[in-house]
Amino acid sequence: MKRTKIAEILRTEPIDTEVVVKGWVKAFRNNQFIALNDGSCAANLQVVVDFENTDPALIDRLKYGAAIGARGQLIESQGKGQRVEVKAAELTIYGDCNPEEFPLQPKRQTLEFLREHAHLRFRTSTFAAVFRVRHALAFAIHKFFHERGFYYMHTPIITGSDAEGAGEMFSVTTLPLNKVPMDENGAVDFSQDFFERATNLTVSGQLEAELGALALGEVYTFGPTFRAENSNTTRHLAEFWMIEPEIAFADLHDNMDLAEAMLQYVTNFALEHCKDDLAILEERLLNEEKTKPQHERSEMSLTEKLRFVVENNFERLTYTEAIDILKNSNPNKKGKFQYPIEGWGADLQSEHERYLVEKHFKKPVILTNYPAAIKAFYMRLDDPKEGVPGPTVSAMDILFPGIGEIVGGSQREERYEVLRKKMQEMDIPETELYWYLDTRKFGSCPHAGFGLGFERLVQFVTGMNNIRDVIAFPRFPGNAEF
Ligand code: 4AD
Ligand code: MG
Repeated sequence: MKRTKIAEILRTEPIDTEVVVKGWVKAFRNNQFIALNDGSCAANLQVVVDFENTDPALIDRLKYGAAIGARGQLIESQGKGQRVEVKAAELTIYGDCNPEEFPLQPKRQTLEFLREHAHLRFRTSTFAAVFRVRHALAFAIHKFFHERGFYYMHTPIITGSDAEGAGEMFSVTTLPLNKVPMDENGAVDFSQDFFERATNLTVSGQLEAELGALALGEVYTFGPTFRAENSNTTRHLAEFWMIEPEIAFADLHDNMDLAEAMLQYVTNFALEHCKDDLAILEERLLNEEKTKPQHERSEMSLTEKLRFVVENNFERLTYTEAIDILKNSNPNKKGKFQYPIEGWGADLQSEHERYLVEKHFKKPVILTNYPAAIKAFYMRLDDPKEGVPGPTVSAMDILFPGIGEIVGGSQREERYEVLRKKMQEMDIPETELYWYLDTRKFGSCPHAGFGLGFERLVQFVTGMNNIRDVIAFPRFPGNAEF
């Protein structure tokens, strides 16, 4: 007989039919009641063992974590706590699980411990919930863009360019590292390398996505990106997934509207489709908050926070306006910021972003028109504006509570001469990006786009504090295990 997934059984409740279920033992009580979970949903299914007519040796193997199968009638439950249960006629053990050796225990274990056992942590209800929600969010992103007529574009993972111009790249090479060939100038001779040039893992698919948008109109990428930045924080990974839409004939306002609509759509999708998982994660967060002092606890529960984002417009203001708010803020005046805001031009740190979002506006914020000097070369130069001390670009960052920057984007510099000049000023070699400049020579048009850090979105929706807990196998300085 074919197995039926527990999610389907609980959805359709086919009472008085024979079913086969297969999964992992979550609990075994009174030599009789198995709580079985097969990963298809958060809920367990109760399997009732006829212990008088079952081999004691088999019963003895029904340990926490064991993989088993059960065949039997699905009946209305005799006990409390569940509507249906399976009266087992036959039990199969697929894989024993020795409790003396199994690192997981049927009790609360710390996230740090589970991170060290990342190969097994899927088995816990918290991580199973996180990864189901992660799936739902990925699906919702594709659904959102597909419904709006965007094309999903696969941009290269190995590339010769540094899209962000920040030099935080992992090299890719087949050259022997113990005997790197050198040219007559003492530089690495990449002509002997696989691609006959220097290459690296991509930091962003944006530049290639722009090429697609300037023909297909509206495209998006959703792929892995890699950054060798030495950031040991709860918001940085060396390998993360990024969603990068790019839209032709669009300006910064269209870009903000798109990003806000997308974030609200996918958050709402999770609220509608991941209720059981969000309930588990909300409870987890609540317990975690209880360990914090009162003033650090969140005023809203997880689902309240998600609903708040879905139902409220994001606050939009310029960098210049934000600097004014920050300069005059209490923490700045009282010297509470680690990086005091002295004036216009300063790059915003996470503490400033979080002040704006969590204390001042108490809602998601979109900051725009940053100083050109602290943003990437491809962002469109703004016309000078009264009251703004220096040149700015049509950039936007979306800041979220508990996360800080979740989206970074801009209107792109579509003017050939302006872009060339900017690249020269920022030491971006024209010879390497001739193909990017070509689009500005041949049928250029105003266009815009942004990047959403997928793990930061998953963090926000699941309420997990550490980004290393929302990707299966996190990569960060000193760690590439599994
Ligand atoms: O702001 P970033 O660097 O922008 C870009 O890469 C642009 N090319 C995007 C675009 O306009 N198409 O990165 C975009 C987002 C950030 O807002 C953040 O959410 C996430 O990517 N991000 C990271 N997430 C996890 N770990 C890291 N090290 C990240 N760096 C950026
Ligand atoms: Mg950014």
